[in-house]
Amino acid sequence: MERLATLTVTALSPHVGAEIGDVDLTKPLSPAQVGAIKEALASHGVVFFREQPIDLEMHRRFALHFGELHVHVGGEGTASKPDEKYPEARRQHFDANSKRVSGEVWHTDQSCAAIPPMASILHQRIVPPTGGDTLFASMYAAYDALSERMKAYLAGLTATHDGAKLFDKGTRTVYPVSSHPVVAVHPWTGRKLLYVNRGQTTHIDGLAPDESAAILEYLFDHIECPEWQMRFHWRENSIAFWDNRCTQHRAIWDYWPHVRSGYRVQIKGTQPPVPA
Ligand code: SIN
Repeated sequence: MERLATLTVTALSPHVGAEIGDVDLTKPLSPAQVGAIKEALASHGVVFFREQPIDLEMHRRFALHFGELHVHVGGEGTASKPDEKYPEARRQHFDANSKRVSGEVWHTDQSCAAIPPMASILHQRIVPPTGGDTLFASMYAAYDALSERMKAYLAGLTATHDGAKLFDKGTRTVYPVSSHPVVAVHPWTGRKLLYVNRGQTTHIDGLAPDESAAILEYLFDHIECPEWQMRFHWRENSIAFWDNRCTQHRAIWDYWPHVRSGYRVQIKGTQPPVPA
């Protein structure tokens, strides 16, 4: 365990994830607390908080310490629904009547957007008796583990990300399509990371379709290796705050017909993914 300002930070795996303690998110944070949480997020990619009985106002206030709020680009085509009062907050409520849940494929949030959300903050109010975990993976560790030959091959390539691959078909929402570097560099840490995901990346730009499909399949499998993952077990009033620029995640829907219910708020990105 490490102490940052007044907070405790306990790493949960070698490559990704840490639990933050000694902080009450029902109250506004001091600049020192905000700085410490940013430092922990930069080091671990995703940070977790336990026993935080926040309402939506407190949830938004917490997120606003880190930037402006992002409005989901998935519109009508997602399993989550916008809150009536605060449309930038999405209700993620799943129960016996749900046909699907959010995030059941490895992805980083809305990489199809020209400027994807920098981070996401998910708070669970109701959790199932067992199950409903979320997997997180470090895209730094995934990049670092590539062979030097593969790193050289990927250098300078871009890939297309299309919201239509992930979100529902046949809605009135027109999903964004964007091209981003396959290898990006994190603006806070300067570290290189892999920025393609199974959920939204359709092809590597400028390659023959079969070559693009083969390389992407190799990268998706590589990204999904358990060596750079961790599995977060939710409890009521847990919070996960992940950095979309250097992690991916996948929700596990093994709890039907039980209820899992919470809200997610996202923080606007300030720039497109930065080429390495
Ligand atoms: C998501 O935001 O992609 C879903 C994560 C989760 O519900 O665990």
